[in-house]
Amino acid sequence: FSRQNRQESFEQAPMYVAVMTYLGYGIVTLFGYVRDFLRAVGLEKCHVAQERDEQKDFVPLYQDFENFYTRNLYMRVRDNWNRPICSLPGPVFDLMERVSDDYNWTFRLTGRTIHNVINVGSYNYLGFAENNADFLKTVADTTCQFGVGVCSTRQEMGNLSIHEELEKLVANFLGVESSMTFGMGFATNSMNIPALVGKGCLILSDELNHTSLILGARLSGATIRVFKHNNMHSLEKMLREAVCSGQTRTHRPWKKILIIVEGIYSMEGSVVRLPEIIALKKKYKAYLYLDEAHSIGAVGPSGRGVTELFDVDPTDVDVMMGTFTKSFGASGGYIAGKKELVDYLRSHSHSAVYASAMSPPVTEQIIRALKCLMGKDGSTEGIRRIRQLAENSRYFRARLKEMGFIIYGSDDSPVVPILLYMPGKVVAFAREMLDRRIGVVVVGFPATPITEARARFCLSAAHTRDMLNQVLHHLNEVGDRLCLKFSRRKYSSWPDLCEETDFELDS
Ligand SMILES: Cc1ncc(COP(=O)(O)O)c(C=O)c1O
Repeated sequence: FSRQNRQESFEQAPMYVAVMTYLGYGIVTLFGYVRDFLRAVGLEKCHVAQERDEQKDFVPLYQDFENFYTRNLYMRVRDNWNRPICSLPGPVFDLMERVSDDYNWTFRLTGRTIHNVINVGSYNYLGFAENNADFLKTVADTTCQFGVGVCSTRQEMGNLSIHEELEKLVANFLGVESSMTFGMGFATNSMNIPALVGKGCLILSDELNHTSLILGARLSGATIRVFKHNNMHSLEKMLREAVCSGQTRTHRPWKKILIIVEGIYSMEGSVVRLPEIIALKKKYKAYLYLDEAHSIGAVGPSGRGVTELFDVDPTDVDVMMGTFTKSFGASGGYIAGKKELVDYLRSHSHSAVYASAMSPPVTEQIIRALKCLMGKDGSTEGIRRIRQLAENSRYFRARLKEMGFIIYGSDDSPVVPILLYMPGKVVAFAREMLDRRIGVVVVGFPATPITEARARFCLSAAHTRDMLNQVLHHLNEVGDRLCLKFSRRKYSSWPDLCEETDFELDS
């Protein structure tokens, strides 16, 4: 985990790949227009969502481009998303087979199951999405004692003893004074940011921040400025400008400046440059909000996230946020930090005041996972899982680089994006991998820039070396078959033997 050995790369694709990618989108767009014409003249059946004739004078319900993109691009490849799963989302899972009789406009389940698909798409970083009855005993006992739903908010009848136990445990785990938990990770961001900043405040937000952070920022009414992803020059320039010029019209000083970043970025696999950001926030007297949805549990020698990975003091982060949906195999989120901050949010955050409290079995699942990570269950299972995940991530990333794929992100990150670029290849890749019983997540425009469509792998401590080797074997074959190995770099087969100076810290 040493800082010197950390490599983070964002290799650019060769020029011909960008040209072919634009050409690919160009061709499907052209076909789209031709088919729209055929639909308009009645030569092709039309399933389009469109206003009825008597609605035509109203403001249009459907945006032109979105409508066009959905009909002509997304519909052709829709079979690769939203597949129904009929088992635990563990390292291996079962899918329900489905077919479409109308070119993906609707799907029909065949009643058959596709068994034993290796799952490299779920965020089950530490393997806590599991159904071993021994491990889940306390969760079952809690369900028998408290039931499943709380039927009230924390401030009314919904404040259970296990909620308080969980909050103490979270604060203890993170090394801060206090914490509050919420039933939903998304709402933890979108409802707490507006409680912290408002009009007259400035938010500096990383350009790749999650939608829940963007929504929270917009709801707050604060001014939002977006800095380049993980780019300290861009952030410092904005901070300097904000301090020198103050608010846009009045030039009064900003009431607060809040920097919002994530620990690990879920589409890039990159790790936040935390020590530099802390130095900047101290220099310019700003506050820092850190979303650890993908990093808590997943990085750091004892799973305490990016503060531990970089060996920085967690109290230097003003607002620590995280979710329980990934490493903990549960649901919900937390805000942690100074007691004053948490007490303030308890009475001012909409999700604290108006939302029902976290479900008891979910609460107990998080408690048991935390106890396991902290060794409070009397075992070393938590540490074993953390080490296994780190080993799996490094092994998988090293083999992919050796094969010649372009992958993004940090060596420490269990999120591994493989760049596929061309729309046709994205679809062929997902279908080919499923035929080989490997469940992958593929992502393209508008979730990524148009030229950077990718497959996003999420590794787990529950993946055995044998499973990873199977995935790598198929990736190698599919990579050759679909010509996906675009990297022009040479990698040593054993990265640990590389000279330290070979590693780029900032590319
Ligand atoms: C960075 C980040 N923050 C917040 C969330 C929302 O969390 P949840 O899915 O637990 O509601 C996500 C979800 O993926 C995320 O990636």
